[in-house]
Amino acid sequence: MSSDSVTTGTAHPAPDHTVAGVDIGDAALASRLRDDLVDVEELLVGRLETGEEFLSEVALHLVTAGGKRFRPLVALLAGELGPEPDRDKLRKAAVVCEMIHLATLYHDDVMDEAEMRRGVESANSRWDNSVAILAGDFLFAHASMLLAELGPAAVQLIAQTFAELVTGQMRETVGPGRGGAAEPADEAEHYLRVIWEKTGSLIAAAVQFGGEYSGASAEQIRTLRELGDAVGVAFQIADDIIDIASPATDSGKTPGTDLREGVHTLPMIYALDAGSTDPGRLRDLLSRPLTDDAEVEEALELLRASDGMRRARATLEKYVDDAMAALDALPSGPANEALRRLVRFTVDRVR
Ligand code: IPE
Ligand code: IPE
Ligand code: MG
Ligand code: MG
Repeated sequence: MSSDSVTTGTAHPAPDHTVAGVDIGDAALASRLRDDLVDVEELLVGRLETGEEFLSEVALHLVTAGGKRFRPLVALLAGELGPEPDRDKLRKAAVVCEMIHLATLYHDDVMDEAEMRRGVESANSRWDNSVAILAGDFLFAHASMLLAELGPAAVQLIAQTFAELVTGQMRETVGPGRGGAAEPADEAEHYLRVIWEKTGSLIAAAVQFGGEYSGASAEQIRTLRELGDAVGVAFQIADDIIDIASPATDSGKTPGTDLREGVHTLPMIYALDAGSTDPGRLRDLLSRPLTDDAEVEEALELLRASDGMRRARATLEKYVDDAMAALDALPSGPANEALRRLVRFTVDRVR
């Protein structure tokens, strides 16, 4: 307690270091980011409210349901690393990234036949597939309008990113070994490529926006991309571990969705590896999409204790190390420390 509070008799509240539930280690930065995120939210909702009520209602369904706003947060934080943050552009870029992310969530839930998202009914489940697909398109249209305000370089970055993202969703759908000459035959390599494309590319773009709109040097922007790539891949590995390890109350999604869809994520790929010590029963369960609830539960239990899971966590740590190495090469200070804490927080969700 400071001497000031002793003389007045009033206790100072502890300084708030948190943004979106993450302790980022610095009160002034946290306060600035919380303000920025309020503006981001206003812009996001404000844009989606325009137009026909029946469309806004569906597009806002997942916005108001929750979500971590991870991509806006990393864009804003990366924007704190450069010498001259342009806060208006950073906020717009943050909104673009969240809109693109949301568009892919609507479409992804149709593809994955997911019933729950952000703790509420998915749009495809609450309405139907057509409604969910059109809401995703509406979000993409709004992202494009905002991008036009940011200029051609931003349009180019997101167009490229969206192509990568769609390629990843398609590569996952096509499956390993069937994507042509450039397609990795190894299942783990295939998986890592898919997740960089479907998830890493947008997170890397969010980080790049931070550099572009804060006056970072070309070399720093290259390092920021490396950071975004590593964080993005780590983020999806963590998400796939959570699909196995966490209850729906934590993730806001139905656990075991990947098992039901017959999608092999990293813990499963490692469990099926030739050298794996995991039981034959697990291999049997992983050899087909599971429809029976009891079998999904059995596979989840076996996976939680599996060697495949242990190896997946080790791979996750390798990407965390890559992210930290990129941060070592970027300007130090509160934003750098905050990014380290955010990365740790993101992967510690899996414990
Ligand atoms: C979910 O992303 C889809 C993935 C790419 C793993 P998030 O985990 O960021 O989902 P929200 O935005 O918090 O709902
Ligand atoms: C998320 O893929 C990637 C995109 C939405 C582009 P998943 O299907 O693995 O993500 P969740 O688990 O449904 O969020
Ligand atoms: Mg999904
Ligand atoms: Mg999917």
